[in-house]
Amino acid sequence: MKTHEIRQRFTDHFVAAGHTAVPSASLILDDPNLLFVNAGMVPFKPYFLGQQTPPFDTATSIQKCVRTLDIEEVGVTTRHNTFFQMAGNFSFGRYFKEGAITHAWSLLTGSLDEGGFGLDPERLWVTVYTDDDEAAGIWEHTVGLPAERIQRLGMADNYWSMGVPGPCGPSSEIYYDRGPEHGREGGPVVDDTRYIEIWNLVFMENERGEGRGKDDFEIVGALPKKNIDTGMGVERLACILQDVDNVYETDLLRPVIDVAETLTGSAYGANHADDVRFRVIADHCRTGLMLILDGVTPGNEGREYILRRLLRRIIRSARLLGATGDTMERLMDTVRETMTPSYPEIADNWDRIRSVAVGEEKAFLKTLESGTRLFRSAAEKVRAAGGTTLGGEEAFALHDTHGFPIDLTMEMAAEAGLSVDEGRFRALMDEQRARAKADNDAKKHGHADVSVYRPFVDNHPTVFLGYTDRQAEAEILGIIRDGALVDRAREGERVQVILDRTPFYAESGGQLADRGTLRAPGGAGDVEDVQKTGKRVWVHSVAVTGGEFAVGERVTAVVDDAWRHAARQAHSGTHLIHAALRQVLGPTAVQAGSMNRPGFLRFDFSYGEQLTEDQLREIGDVTNSAVDADWAVNTVETSLDEAKAMGAMALFGENYGDRVRVVEIGGPFSMELCGGTHVDHSSQIGPVSVLGESSVGSGVRRIEAYTGLDSMRHLSTEAALVTSLATDLRTPSADLPERIASLSARLREAEKRINQLRAAEVTSKVGEYLAQGTPEGEVTVVAVRLPDGVGAGDVRTAVAEARGRAGAEPVVVLLTSVTDGKVPFAVACTPAAVDLGVRAGDVVAAFGAEVGGRGGGKPEMAQGSGSSPEGIDAGLTAARRAVRDLQQ
Ligand code: SER
Repeated sequence: MKTHEIRQRFTDHFVAAGHTAVPSASLILDDPNLLFVNAGMVPFKPYFLGQQTPPFDTATSIQKCVRTLDIEEVGVTTRHNTFFQMAGNFSFGRYFKEGAITHAWSLLTGSLDEGGFGLDPERLWVTVYTDDDEAAGIWEHTVGLPAERIQRLGMADNYWSMGVPGPCGPSSEIYYDRGPEHGREGGPVVDDTRYIEIWNLVFMENERGEGRGKDDFEIVGALPKKNIDTGMGVERLACILQDVDNVYETDLLRPVIDVAETLTGSAYGANHADDVRFRVIADHCRTGLMLILDGVTPGNEGREYILRRLLRRIIRSARLLGATGDTMERLMDTVRETMTPSYPEIADNWDRIRSVAVGEEKAFLKTLESGTRLFRSAAEKVRAAGGTTLGGEEAFALHDTHGFPIDLTMEMAAEAGLSVDEGRFRALMDEQRARAKADNDAKKHGHADVSVYRPFVDNHPTVFLGYTDRQAEAEILGIIRDGALVDRAREGERVQVILDRTPFYAESGGQLADRGTLRAPGGAGDVEDVQKTGKRVWVHSVAVTGGEFAVGERVTAVVDDAWRHAARQAHSGTHLIHAALRQVLGPTAVQAGSMNRPGFLRFDFSYGEQLTEDQLREIGDVTNSAVDADWAVNTVETSLDEAKAMGAMALFGENYGDRVRVVEIGGPFSMELCGGTHVDHSSQIGPVSVLGESSVGSGVRRIEAYTGLDSMRHLSTEAALVTSLATDLRTPSADLPERIASLSARLREAEKRINQLRAAEVTSKVGEYLAQGTPEGEVTVVAVRLPDGVGAGDVRTAVAEARGRAGAEPVVVLLTSVTDGKVPFAVACTPAAVDLGVRAGDVVAAFGAEVGGRGGGKPEMAQGSGSSPEGIDAGLTAARRAVRDLQQ
């Protein structure tokens, strides 16, 4: 049975039993505890917790899930997929244990003709939580399962929670016995490879508190209702129904392995190590595609890092299997074919997906070889010195210069029997980050302890007034200092303030937070930042500038007018730029990220090539024509489906059932889901000046622009600059480009001439240098520092010339100079010197060691470059010594 049909049967079964079929949510939901949606119940969490009233009392879904914790297990075991589909049925208080158990049983064992999966009941086993007699009783008496196939397990296995505070409950898992050839007798408690888990029924009735992991936490209370959350692994069932050995060989992934065989020339099934690589390729390709589909682009932090790591693992695995050229496009294309029947949206997004994946491959292939070489030589050195740990410096260089994710380096090290000094690597990364001023966003949205906000998220969602008001009276509900709740905040302190209502826009959707002030009868403070927690609570970062604030007090919250005005201009400007990009570049130019603050905007989008000047100009023109058209900016609140039907761009992060806000400028010209603050008419944006575009990683480009007053200032500064250049160069401004081009051409010509003269001077002095030679043993050594400014090429030419003139004598010539802070050097040995045992490479090594450089070449001629001019004298001496030593 094809996977697509498994999905269909599952949905049909539960819809027939009155469940509402809910589409899969995006893999990326706004939950600070989750990188990716990793279970079918995630989108329903507020319903279980009683925070929101569900629009249905039962539901069914097939949720896209990504779990990357076990990435090293992929391909090694039979059942670890980083992407998988969790089919689930959910009851919000309607049925409980008996309903969940009988539904699962009738679907699994129901005949194929009746819409079931037709599994042999004799092969099914179940586990229940230690003391869950009720569930055990239902299995035995209602279903009729023999008592010996009902096993009991403890909290780690049969008590489910998300690993963090939230809904939880005892569970009952259903296993399928794949037969004695797969392992030992005795049920799932003995062997969980032979007995493979296919369905987890969670009796969601409690709420857990803080704690660690799966079995070390407190139950803090009962949920308002007894709920059901189940999850059936679609891939695992496919593995059984298609009678294949593992989840990588089902109809969705096996075709990828087949294509990988053709691309690499290796055969699947030949040996275990290669099989693992094939499975890694198949698994990661699918996960990569689904992540890109949901808007992730490769990068170095968080989700983006995970995608990068997956894609780079594919590329490396393919290389290890023997691939020499590009493979990504063919592999991804195969995933597209297998997945599109279930996810038709892949077709609409295909160009974007391909361009991101292929871009990453291009970027990585550029450095994979050099990085691998560096890795090998570093590993050899470690081993030669009898060590077992690769230095943090090498791991950092691999990351920084060659784009090797640290995990890849660690895997390669493990394959080579080494470990990596991860501590040192992290320290170097930290230093680099500090230098580059840590990305503020990462800090703000990092996994800080959010429990202090919890009571507010649960009970006091902030009322946001900022779409209409810039000033409001509000009550202080909470003050947080250094992560803890306090009663009051005094002058000089920096605290976080939670209000019952606020006109302040909290940073989101790329728009920075509003700035402004809080005023109370006895205190005043500046609002420096505002972030949302749990989507519902606005947290104001406040510097108290006078007096004090206390919880319970009333304050006047005032947004800085000028700030907000310019922020609106920038955000509406961003929408225009986005629309203009799509108009000029086509629909594949999809948003990959954006940032806007008063007066300035940055917009990242997927696009495979550098934009031409004409395209850039056209984008600017289309944008400013939209400003000029003075279109009204309209916002409506509606359902996600309705918004999509209107043609609004819905990118990622939205959840089925969410109310969404659509911002429309000029009708179909620009229609986006957006919670930001906008101008009322497009002309209020003022001129938009595009500053340029650049690359920010594989397949992603960035445009930056000024808006409003900043744009005008920018334009007048540029104009003043042009005028002053025109005056200095005594030419009309229209002729400036030509004049500058001719000046640079003359400059280049002059530099060339100077270099030629310098080279001629050096060559003409070769005879003089040779005459300065002094003996070291039987060899005459000529070691000379040339005048500063002689480049590497000229040093080489002069050395070759000297060697030619030295004829049959045993002579070694070393010439060096200092140019642009670098120390180019070259060594030549005449054949007679080589016969005496002197190799140019050895002399280069001796000299290089003193000037902080390396080099290489042939016995007759070698060269290199160093970075420490102060070591030249010592280097010349070391080179002489080397010539002497080498003759012995
Ligand atoms: N939440 C449970 C799981 O992820 C069942 O859906 O296994």
